[in-house]
Amino acid sequence: MSKPFIVVCDGMDKSVFEELKNNDNLEVHPSPKLTQEEIRELLPKANGLVIRSATKPNKEFIDQAPNLKYIIRAGEGTDNIDKAYCQEKGIKVSNTPGANNNSAAEHALALMMTVLRKTATANASMKEGKWEKSQFTGNELWKKTVGIMGFGRIGQILCKRLQGFEPNVLFFDPGVKESEFSYAKKVDTLEELFTKSDIVSIHTPLLDATKGVVNSELLGKMKSDAILVNAARGKIVNEDDLYSALKEGKIKAAGFDVFANEPLESESKLKELDNIVLTPHLGGSTEEAQFRVGEMAANQMIEFFTNDNLLNEVKA
Ligand code: MLT
Repeated sequence: MSKPFIVVCDGMDKSVFEELKNNDNLEVHPSPKLTQEEIRELLPKANGLVIRSATKPNKEFIDQAPNLKYIIRAGEGTDNIDKAYCQEKGIKVSNTPGANNNSAAEHALALMMTVLRKTATANASMKEGKWEKSQFTGNELWKKTVGIMGFGRIGQILCKRLQGFEPNVLFFDPGVKESEFSYAKKVDTLEELFTKSDIVSIHTPLLDATKGVVNSELLGKMKSDAILVNAARGKIVNEDDLYSALKEGKIKAAGFDVFANEPLESESKLKELDNIVLTPHLGGSTEEAQFRVGEMAANQMIEFFTNDNLLNEVKA
């Protein structure tokens, strides 16, 4: 009998990939990172896929994979997978919950500090040979009010990591009753969160209920010197409204790691603005997170195909 054929699409920690490849019960495609064209060519034969955010199994993709049984999202968010269609086709879907959450929370904190202290712009200016000290007066994070939208695993890690800055943390999350942190207080509405915070950091998953909720109305409630950080999902924020709010000075600045369309289009208006720091979806991109995520994904793949054990299933 032939062994299940596994394709790792969007990269994996080297040592973990070697271990997976050496598993006697699986046939693993020898490259851990493939172009979308290469993946398409392998789909007819694939039984299992490990993906990150670059590969987007939609209907058309899945229809090219008649032998596919299992997709593992090596990460947290599964919004890039048409889970309902997978369910219809009998394809199981899992993620690796928690494995990259610390890195995502740290990246949100890094974006906050970069925006507050203008380090990215100062670095670019220095490398152009300038010394523009007076242009880069920033702001402190110490004792600021940080509003966390979505108080799940990542939001709570961020709250913990912020502690040394002696912040006043507000959070909005209808699914969380109260916080274990004395310095974090639940608010009942998003409006209150956006109105009262000096910095708002988004940490909700992309759901029908969260798509586009951060729009001109909510942005209009923020303080004019407030900062918005998004290391969750791009489609939670209306990018046209964000552009206007930044351009018209309705908010002071922003730090964004995620976008409605990724990679961010080359003609995106956000790139014209000086008061936004952009990073290319790096939330989970640390060596530590990629090791943990890879280990979990590899173990789940082996369990599924060798022990008929489905771990961390995500349903539609
Ligand atoms: C995730 O959903 O796990 C994060 O966005 C990180 C990533 O995909 O790289």
